[in-house]
Amino acid sequence: MKFAIKYIAAAICVSICTSSFASPLREAVLRNAAIENGFVKPEQTHATVNLELVKVGKLLFESKLLSLNEDTACASCHLDRFGSADGLPNAIGVGGVGHGERRLRSEGAIIPRNTLALWGVGGLEFDRFFWDGKVDKSDQQISSQFGDSKPSDDPLVVAVHLPPAELDEMLRDSKENLIFETESVGSATALYKILTARILSDSRLAQEVAVAYPEVREVTFLHLAKAIAAFIRENFKLQPTKFSKFVFENGALTEAELKGGLVFYGKGRCSGCHKGPYFSDMKFHAIPFPQIGFGKNGYGVDYGRFNTTLNAEEIYKFRTPVLYNVAKTAPYSHSGAVTSLKDAIIYHFDPLKDYQSERDDSRSRAEFYKRLSVWSNETFKPELLNEDDIENLITFLGTLEFEAQMSVLELE
Ligand code: HEC
Ligand code: HEC
Repeated sequence: MKFAIKYIAAAICVSICTSSFASPLREAVLRNAAIENGFVKPEQTHATVNLELVKVGKLLFESKLLSLNEDTACASCHLDRFGSADGLPNAIGVGGVGHGERRLRSEGAIIPRNTLALWGVGGLEFDRFFWDGKVDKSDQQISSQFGDSKPSDDPLVVAVHLPPAELDEMLRDSKENLIFETESVGSATALYKILTARILSDSRLAQEVAVAYPEVREVTFLHLAKAIAAFIRENFKLQPTKFSKFVFENGALTEAELKGGLVFYGKGRCSGCHKGPYFSDMKFHAIPFPQIGFGKNGYGVDYGRFNTTLNAEEIYKFRTPVLYNVAKTAPYSHSGAVTSLKDAIIYHFDPLKDYQSERDDSRSRAEFYKRLSVWSNETFKPELLNEDDIENLITFLGTLEFEAQMSVLELE
């Protein structure tokens, strides 16, 4: 309640204090709004990492040996040129070749979700992973598919265990491989043993692993996962941005950036959900973006968070995405249905834009009505934004950009 009053007061101030006042006041309003909403200096989100682990973690991230059929690496879907995502609506896993358009045309298996970028992932207080939070440490305890046999207390290390054991993502859906599905923790363990033995039989990787773990006599998959986690933490950690320099170092913004920032914290109500150090409240919300592809639940349906918790109140909800480098990670939303940043913003307050009821069958229409009704219960919805507001918001989002520490090898 206290928060709500504070928020409303801040929103009123941000609306009143826009354009008609002199710039220094508007700048102060924006700085305060950012800090009130949990924005911190990038260094404050950095976890300590072991740089030897980072080095070997990078090699593992780029290695196809981590997929049973040796055709897919983490770097097949998390690429520099697409801002650590893959530029595709739905990710393409095993059997996929190349990237972008080429990967789309290849025979690769389709994953019914949009690839998440890795900015800030694993930083301090980043505790819910994946669109549906299927790895979650927000309650101190880790919940994940591993149940009580979780491999680590570090949620990022647990998250890193999943892709190699995920059918279609890095594991081919064949009769022989079916026994390795994550559904059974025992079979995933068997898979991890095979992958670890393989990595250790590669002379270069084995040597690097030995350097990173001089004391360890029996290297297991957990050691490899910790190294990959260290790499993600280091490589994608938050860096100073134009916005952080503005807020904490008295840096300047252009007029459009300033206006966009005031919309973000003001009538856009973006900061109701996109807040905190990562511009995500790490909570789950329903935004009725169009849904494309087969969907996690089949026939173009994705129940989102409900798939993880089976809580009826969480149906159609997805974890608020991080907004760093967002201009580089199109297409948008959990199903990648939205191609432009402009539309990604508009659907938050005008979900019927472009909706053609005749395009859908009655089943999909019924599905869409349900999503609209869940959305209507969301506390924060943007006011109607005009063209200028949207353009300024996009310009503002551009102030949240930075580069990765190292460049990831581009694989064929
Ligand atoms: C086939 C493409 C593909 C491959 C290969 C892949 N990923 Fe991903 N990654 C995705 C997709 C798609 C998502 C979002 C999935 C979801 O949330 O349902 C994702 C999400 C993630 C996340 C969660 C990010 C967040 O914000 O919560 C992490 C961490 C991650 N991947 C790491 C890895 C690592 C490490 C590897 C290699 C071991 C890997 N990925 C391999 C496509 C891929
Ligand atoms: C009610 C909470 C909420 C509010 C308010 C909100 N967002 Fe979002 N936003 C989300 C969620 C949740 C998603 C992902 C939903 C999905 O994919 O189904 C999202 C997605 C996005 C995306 C796409 C990101 C990506 O990587 O796919 C952008 C861009 C975005 N929001 C910007 C904004 C802006 C700008 C505003 C203010 C005008 C705003 N949001 C207001 C919760 C919110």
